[in-house]
Amino acid sequence: MGDLKMRHKFMNATANMLNEYLSGVKELIRQSLEAKKFAYCPYSKFRVGAALLTHNGTVFTGCNVENTCFNLGICTERIVISKAVSEGYRDFKAIAIASDMCEQFISPCGGCRQFMREFGANWDVYLSKPDGSYVEMTVEELLPMSFGPEDLKVK
Ligand code: THU
Repeated sequence: MGDLKMRHKFMNATANMLNEYLSGVKELIRQSLEAKKFAYCPYSKFRVGAALLTHNGTVFTGCNVENTCFNLGICTERIVISKAVSEGYRDFKAIAIASDMCEQFISPCGGCRQFMREFGANWDVYLSKPDGSYVEMTVEELLPMSFGPEDLKVK
């Protein structure tokens, strides 16, 4: 095969991989927006949804669940991670988070950042807006110099 043909083939393969990746992100965000519809937030009226992608492609979804006793409310991210862990999943590739804020990207609270960190610092977090636009960050970027399970193993 000629050099030019090889280069074209390589570029097409790369473009296909990129397209596949981008449509995967788009789909995960769509699922988080869908999950937001189930938010139980009569007190804050601040709806949040999330979709969590596991290592084998299984997706879990979740929303925030508030309570009359305000401090018992549970954030979306903790709900969705707990759903996955309670079904035997601990390896996560990415989480998409959605809210109703149009002017800014939803940003997880400190407690949820630590909750994500428990399952690794190197996986992706997509902070989205209702129009589907997003910012991609890693758990490490959201929670630098974090304290994690490895730290308890230090002699
Ligand atoms: N909330 C989440 O579920 N996730 C976030 O990333 C930010 C905040 C919830 C908690 C509470 O039910 C409501 O949003 C207002 O703080």
